[in-house]
Formats: sequence, C-alpha cells, structure tokens
Amino acid sequence: MNRYLPIRKVYAREVLDSRGNPTVETEVTVGEGIVGKDGYTGKAIIPSGASTGKYEALELRDKDKRYFGRGVLKAVENINDKLSESVLGENVLNQRHIDTLLKQEDGTENKEKVGANAILGVSLAAADAAAKALRVPLYQYLGGCQAHDMPVPMMNILNGGKHAENTIDFQEFMIMPVGACCFREGLRMCVEIYHKLKEILQSEGLSVAVGDEGGFAPDLKGAEEALEYMVRAVKEAGFLPGKEISFALDIAASELYENGMYYFPGQSIMQNKRIIKSAEEMISYYEELLEKFPIVSIEDGLCEEDWEGWVKMTKRLGHKVQLVGDDLFVTNTKRLQKGIEMRAGNAILIKVNQIGSLSEAMEAVNMAHKAGYAAIVSHRSGESEDTFIADLAVAMGTGQIKTGAPCRGERTAKYNRLLEIEDELGQEARYRNPFIKNNS
Ligand code: PGA
Ligand code: ZN
Repeated sequence: MNRYLPIRKVYAREVLDSRGNPTVETEVTVGEGIVGKDGYTGKAIIPSGASTGKYEALELRDKDKRYFGRGVLKAVENINDKLSESVLGENVLNQRHIDTLLKQEDGTENKEKVGANAILGVSLAAADAAAKALRVPLYQYLGGCQAHDMPVPMMNILNGGKHAENTIDFQEFMIMPVGACCFREGLRMCVEIYHKLKEILQSEGLSVAVGDEGGFAPDLKGAEEALEYMVRAVKEAGFLPGKEISFALDIAASELYENGMYYFPGQSIMQNKRIIKSAEEMISYYEELLEKFPIVSIEDGLCEEDWEGWVKMTKRLGHKVQLVGDDLFVTNTKRLQKGIEMRAGNAILIKVNQIGSLSEAMEAVNMAHKAGYAAIVSHRSGESEDTFIADLAVAMGTGQIKTGAPCRGERTAKYNRLLEIEDELGQEARYRNPFIKNNS
C-alpha cells in the first residue's frame, strides 16, 4: 500500500437511535495535513436490535441510572480513550489492520470488554473517512469498480413479534419487487402497495399504527390473514403477486422457542387456546404457506439453538425457498462455517453490529458467496439516519437488502441513499431478480 492517510483524530459522543435509546456516534478524522484544516472526517452511528441473537457480539450499556441503564457513556469513553490511542497514526486505507488493532485492544471473543458498539463505531467511521479522503463514493471505496448491483428491497410492510404490540407472532412480513426493471421502480411498486395496504386496513377498521421498522401492526388472527391482506394490497395496487412481487417472512423463531417447542402467544389469544408447534410441525406449516402464497424467503424459521431442526428444514424446503439465518449465524464466520458444513440454511443476514467490525462482516459475505449461500445486508429495528448499509449492499453485490418500510426517516434514509447511488451509477446500475440464477 503506497498511499498513507493517517488517522489524526477519533472522537465519539452519545446520540439517540430511532427508538429514543442512546447509541454511539463516532467521528474519525484523517489527512496528511493538520486536523481541522485539510482533514476529512468520516462518521458512523451504531444501530441496535430488539430481537437480538444470543450469540451476537456484546453491545455495551452503562446499566446505571441514566436512560434507565441504556446509556452508552462507557462505550464512548472506550473510544475516546483506548480505541483512539490504538489507531492514531495508522493508515486509514488499511481497514483490515485497523479492525485487527481494535479487536486486539478488546481481546475477547465477543468484544465484551470495550463493546462491539465502540469497536464498530471506529471501524465504520474509518471506512467513511477513507472514502471521503479519496473522494470516491463509499460503495465504490468498499466494493471497487465491480460495485454496480442494486439490491432488491425486502420491504417490511406488516410487523409483529417483538417489533410491535399486536397479536401477530411472526416478526416481519415483507414484499420483494422481483419483477421491477430497476431499483427506483421496485421501490415505487413497494411504496404503492404499502399505501394501498394502509387504505385496506383503515377501511376494515384495523389499526394503521406502525411498528419499530415502519410496517403496520394491526391485530390479526395470524400469518395467513396477514399474507391474505398482502395479496389483496398487491393486486389492488395493480401488480401481480408471485410475478412482479414476491413475499418474504422473518419468523424470528428464537423468540417463540420454549422448552424445545414453538409457542404462538398472539394466535393463542386470538383463538382462545394454547397454540404450540414442534420443529417438524413448524416446517410443515411453512410448507403449507409456501403452497398458498408466493413466499421466496423465510428468515429464522427455527430457533438459533435448533441446528438439527435447521438441517431438516433445509432438506425439506431448501430447494424451493431461501432460508435465511439471522440469529442462527449472527454474521459470524464460525457459525456460518458450521452451517455450511451441516447444510443448515442457504442464506445469511448481514448485520454489522452483530459481529462488531466491518472486515468481519465483509468476510461473512464472502464466505457465504463462496459456498453458494445468499447474503442479505440488513438494518436493525433500532436505527439512525446513518446510511452505511445502503453502500455496503451495493459494494458487496448482495442483491438484497432489508431496511424496513417506506416510513420513518431512519428507514427512508437508506432507500433515498440507494436512489442516489442508482442515479450515480447511471447505465452501469444493474437490478435483477436474485432468485433467478445467471440472469444478467
Ligand atoms: P432486530 O430485528 O434488529 O430487532 O434484531 C431485525 C431482524 O430480526 O431481522
Ligand atoms: Zn431477523
């Protein structure tokens, strides 16, 4: 590496995320000259999950009186103090080395000493600073000249589970504009369906209050009813379900898991009886849903501990549907490697804060792609105006992104950034159905 762009300053502060919880904002300033004069400053705000996987890297919270224990001043201090010292003067263009130094400063497997939120803050802000200093867009800095694949949105329009206060047990119901010609048109189709769904729910006297990711959260009897409303909204908006628009689900089944079984609290209330299913029954249930609805992707269909169940599910359903490991893999190459060897799932969700550094998240994408697994870059339910993941999805050519409903500024920020990227790429932008192989 010839060019040397030293890190001059690292600074963090506590800011708020979309749920009104504190989170870490980090600034990394680089430059050959004097700080503040001809330096470039990169920024990052760290997201936060609600249905977090058990094996995620540790998000350091203060656990004191401020913000009911959710403050992040310790993580901020760790950045301003330890992490800053370990990377000052280092070449920002050497992202892997910076991430290694940050990890070494922590020294633990799950980044529990200084906090994954602290490490990731420096890691992402360093990449942003590097892109700015080189005066190239972030997606191009991260992905080089091969970065031209626009992702198909997996747009969440109905929320349940831990992301809402309603009776829907599955966490997310999403639409994918697989038949669109480009990202912009795909986004438009999804937004029109979202508005149509709102109209339909309102006309039936159902709630149109939104969940954490901007999807509607009415009290419905269960998944079938939610999916039926989706089919109706797609059709009434003038699109073809299954052809132009496919469906994706995030079950977040780890949240339903109790003593080796899957318990449906919302459906139990609505049907006035205890609804509980074994792993086998869950798989059969998905099989039924796949028959009836144009579902192309199921995320966390079974619990993060249930490797055996995942293997069975992949055997039975893996040839006809994308099976995404979120809590199962937690963006961790060790867990992904195990999944690849056991043939558990066929896709991985990529959430940078699950693993806590940019290089490790990128490694997980590369490992997935090499093994023929799909990778989907994803937001968290607690987000911010930071748009890093939009650039990351294009840089890594994942072809799919999960970033919520077209509602709430922290979600639209990512969509708007993708519109900007597509515009910038012009004729070079490519958009394609990720479920049809080799369609260029
Ligand atoms: P989380 O949810 O950010 O609350 O973990 C998102 C997801 O499960 O995909
Ligand atoms: Zn998930």
